[in-house]
Amino acid sequence: MVNYKELGLVNTSDLFKKAFEGKYAIPAFNFNNMEQMQAIIAACVETKSPVILQVSSGARKYANQTLLRYMAQGAVEYAKELGQNIPIVLHLDHGDSFELCKNCIESGFSSVMIDGSHLPFEENIALTKKVVEYAHANGVSVEGELGVLAGVEDEVSHEHHTYTQPEEVAEFVTRTGVDSLAISIGTSHGANKFTPAQCTRDENGTLVPPPLRFDILEEIEKLIPGFPIVLHGSSSVPQEYVATINKFGGALKDSIGIPEDQLRKAATSAVCKINIDSDGRLAMTAAVREMFAKNPGEFDPRKYLGPARDELKKLYAYKTVNVLGSAGKA
Ligand code: G3H
Ligand code: 13P
Ligand code: ZN
Repeated sequence: MVNYKELGLVNTSDLFKKAFEGKYAIPAFNFNNMEQMQAIIAACVETKSPVILQVSSGARKYANQTLLRYMAQGAVEYAKELGQNIPIVLHLDHGDSFELCKNCIESGFSSVMIDGSHLPFEENIALTKKVVEYAHANGVSVEGELGVLAGVEDEVSHEHHTYTQPEEVAEFVTRTGVDSLAISIGTSHGANKFTPAQCTRDENGTLVPPPLRFDILEEIEKLIPGFPIVLHGSSSVPQEYVATINKFGGALKDSIGIPEDQLRKAATSAVCKINIDSDGRLAMTAAVREMFAKNPGEFDPRKYLGPARDELKKLYAYKTVNVLGSAGKA
C-alpha cells in the first residue's frame, strides 16, 4: 500500500473549497505518456495553477499503471525542479468497479471517480458508497456521476444525453458521501460533440453549438449548496487544430466542441473541476502532422514529439488563464 501523501500528492478537498469560493475550476487533464505529463506540469507551473492529473482505464492499459503512478510521483518532483510546488492530484478517470478504485487507492492515487452513471439509481448509490467508504478511510477523494453524457465514455458509447435530474442529486450526495459530482448538462466526450444540424450559425457563418443547460446547473446548485460539481467532456475543439490536421493529411469531420465562454461561465459557478482530454489530442496531432508534412525525412521521435509537447504546453497554459481561471491559484 502506497499512500498518496508519501508521493507529495494532494486530494481534492482543499482545492475544491478554494475553487468554489474563488469562482474558478481546477483543470483535470488526461495523460497517457511522458510528453503529455511534462506539458501539463510545465504549463501549470508557469501559470501557477493547481492541477489534476487524470488517468483513464484506457491510459492504464496503454501505458502500464505502475509506470503512470511513478510518472505522477515524478511530476511532483519535476514541478519542484521547475520552481513551483503546485498542488497535484492523481485521479482515476471513469473508474468502473470497486476493485479498480481500490487498486488505484492502494497504488497512490489521491482521488478516484466511480462512474456508476449507467446503472440504475440504487445500484449507482450502492457502488459509489462502497468506494467512498474505502477511499475515505485512506484520505482519498471520490467523484460520482449522475446523468449520462452523449459520446464515448471511456470505451462505452452513448447515443444520447440523459441530463442529470436535479431531484436526484441531494439524495445521491447524502447517501453516498461523495466529495464531488459529475453532471450531464450538454457536454460530451470526444471531438464531435454536436452535429452541424444541432448548431446555428453566427453572422460570420461560424457554427454555434446549443448552449449548456445552465438552468439544470442552477437548480442543482440550489439543492446542494456549496457542493463541488464536475464537468466532463469539456474540450472546446479549437478549429485552428482541426484546420492544421486536415491541411496536413488528416480527415476530421464535423469536429465541434464546447465554446470557451460557456466553460468560463461554468467555472464561476459550483463547477470546480473541468475535464479536458480531446483538445490535447488535437494539439499533439496537429503539431506532429505539420512536422512530418514539412520534414518528411525526419525520423527522430524527439523532433516530432518535442514540437507536440510545446504546443500542448501552450494549450494547457492558455486553458488555465482563459478558460478555467485557475492560473495564479496554486
Ligand atoms: O473520458 C474519456 C477520456 O477522454 C479518456 O479517454 O479512455 O480513450 O483514455 P480514453
Ligand atoms: P473531452 O473528450 O471533451 O476532452 O472530455 C474528457 C473527459 O471528460 C475525460 O473524463
Ligand atoms: Zn469523462
